[in-house]
Amino acid sequence: MGVKPLQNDVFLRALNREPVPYTPSWLMRQAGRYLPEYNATRARAGSFMGLAQSPSYAAEVTLQPLDRFNLDAAILFSDILTVPDAMGLGLSFAQGEGPRFAHPLRTEQDVNKLEVPDLAKLQYVFDAVSLIRTELDGRVPLIGFAGSPFTVACYMVEGQGSDDYRLIKSMLYARPDLLHRILQINAETTVLYLNAQIKAGAQAVMIFDSWGGMLADQLYQQFSLNYTRQVVQQLIKEHEGRMVPSIVFTKGGGQWLEQIAACGASAVGLDWTVDLSAARKRVSDSVALQGNLDPMALFGGEAAIRAEVRRVLEAFGEVKRGGHVFNLGHGISQFTQPEAVAVLVDEVRAHSPQFHSP
Ligand code: CP3
Repeated sequence: MGVKPLQNDVFLRALNREPVPYTPSWLMRQAGRYLPEYNATRARAGSFMGLAQSPSYAAEVTLQPLDRFNLDAAILFSDILTVPDAMGLGLSFAQGEGPRFAHPLRTEQDVNKLEVPDLAKLQYVFDAVSLIRTELDGRVPLIGFAGSPFTVACYMVEGQGSDDYRLIKSMLYARPDLLHRILQINAETTVLYLNAQIKAGAQAVMIFDSWGGMLADQLYQQFSLNYTRQVVQQLIKEHEGRMVPSIVFTKGGGQWLEQIAACGASAVGLDWTVDLSAARKRVSDSVALQGNLDPMALFGGEAAIRAEVRRVLEAFGEVKRGGHVFNLGHGISQFTQPEAVAVLVDEVRAHSPQFHSP
């Protein structure tokens, strides 16, 4: 590859719990609607899928937040729902609305027809990864990602977002065999999908389990964590002569932290409801932790943002043999002022070095 060697590996080193001079930061959904330049590119692309399916547009929006803020990682611009789209479910995003599938899985027949898709249908994602690596030219590492088998299944069965998850939970309680079949196919597909992203140049990977946290205890382990673990354990561990760290984020998963930490991932993402200091003790630094500022804190004004950033850094404490990656506890809101993000990143850089003294 004709690109410069990686110039800033602070994020990758923190995930591997190696010493770093400061706490690296990036934000979930850092490329998105809170940035006017994103909205301009999206308008040129015509639709969200037009943006995601064009490697050059995807590369352009991936780099936009890095041109504004001193972030330590880039994340591939794509979506977790490209996978069921490749399975033939027909994804669309209407302006101002969430995702929608034309052919959700509702009957035994729908589920029986489901197969691991031909990965060639997702070639646009791998092409975007390679192009982003070229355009990043070694500035910061690139994160690839996928949804967890369970979170993706939620959208496949519901056909769109949901407030109560009635359809997926009906299937879970009435026909667990059907849901297990979907989850098995999603897990197999996700292994192929993430490994292809790694081969195309993704230097770390993250699994978003946005909805696992709405399951009852024991059902979470059976229907979400078991399949996430299957994916993590089959990931390529080393590429281009470097470890490829993995991050698992279960929103609302704080009560299962020890079990998530044991799934084989390098790091666990935490939402803002969890105290980082207690979380760290519970996992005894066996994994790195990523998080966990409340995205709504970005609406509190400069002094509150700085105070909340310091609270998160202080909760993690002296990093020593642990690893901390600063992030939000969930995706950034589309109503966030870009200036608020600049304040956040500045405060992390200014206040975190003291926690990395040798
Ligand atoms: O910057 C990044 O973090 C990378 C890109 C990224 C997007 N989606 C772009 C996107 C990532 C990592 C995702 C993951 C994703 N997508 C998740 C898991 C993370 C989470 O937020 O819990 C989920 C559940 C989805 C599904 C999805 N995609 C929804 C519910 C929506 C619409 C509502 C919303 O929150 O925006 C999307 C659309 C989407 N994906 C947008 C972006 C920037 C906005 C679409 C637009 O431009 O109209």
